[in-house]
Amino acid sequence: MIFAKRSNAIQIKSARELDGMRRAGRLASRCLEEILREVRPGVTTQDLDDLQVQFCRDHGVKAAPLGYRGFPKSICTSVNEVICHGIPSRDHRLAEGDIIGVDVTLIVDGFHGDNAATVAVGEVDESAARLLRATVESLRKAIEAVRPGGHLGDIGAAIQAHAEPLGYAVVRDFVGHGIGRKFHEEPQVSHVGRAGRGPRLLPGMTFTIEPMINAGTWECHVLDDGWTAVTADGQLSAQFEHTIAVTRDGVELLTVQNDSGTWEVPGRYALPCSPPLC
Ligand code: MF3
Ligand code: CO
Ligand code: CO
Repeated sequence: MIFAKRSNAIQIKSARELDGMRRAGRLASRCLEEILREVRPGVTTQDLDDLQVQFCRDHGVKAAPLGYRGFPKSICTSVNEVICHGIPSRDHRLAEGDIIGVDVTLIVDGFHGDNAATVAVGEVDESAARLLRATVESLRKAIEAVRPGGHLGDIGAAIQAHAEPLGYAVVRDFVGHGIGRKFHEEPQVSHVGRAGRGPRLLPGMTFTIEPMINAGTWECHVLDDGWTAVTADGQLSAQFEHTIAVTRDGVELLTVQNDSGTWEVPGRYALPCSPPLC
């Protein structure tokens, strides 16, 4: 995310609000999965956006990105060296060997559910497959680090501890975010950090964790369209995102389609590995 206000305190959601967040998260997860199922060589990124528009019509919900700070489309599609905020286009046809990150945020009865996954287009080479696995595992480790009484810095520390020894870099310029009735709330959730540092995590906090992991440098720049963030060295980048809630005894994933709030990988259909590996 981008530009969260620093002024507001971190909200604690009520049981009712958490129910709303669960419903939004569940539908956002289903939407992401349906879009990912259609990823294949020859499909355009606009085709994927069209699916989102149709899904929103079918379910009577809204896509949060459309018009958000002027964003022109309903999902973000980030191919290969694009880190995040890629804009769907009729001119961009996916090719065998690409990787594509799809980021879906729905507004359901006033609550936001935000999730993303990066998947292979057809067969990808082993280095791309390794990056996808490392990124999804970074998110899993980050989620496992969340507990009441812990600290926000535990999250970034867990991501760095997984990704950096594998030779990857963690993006600094974009962060996760508190989420609820607003798309982007306090706190900013850095994907780098030090365990035991930062604000305390408390039951009822809801936020996203959305690590972007680069094969080369973490540095990036934004294209002239004002949105598309690309790696400075042109190497691959991958991202996974879940919306989560801190609970009394740990963490609940909100962007899943099971009742238990436990780990499910969006896009497992298209990942170049199968559960439990990814
Ligand atoms: N869904 C993105 C996030 O994870 C934000 C997209 S902002 C948009 O925070 F304007 F590009 F849609
Ligand atoms: Co987000
Ligand atoms: Co998102």
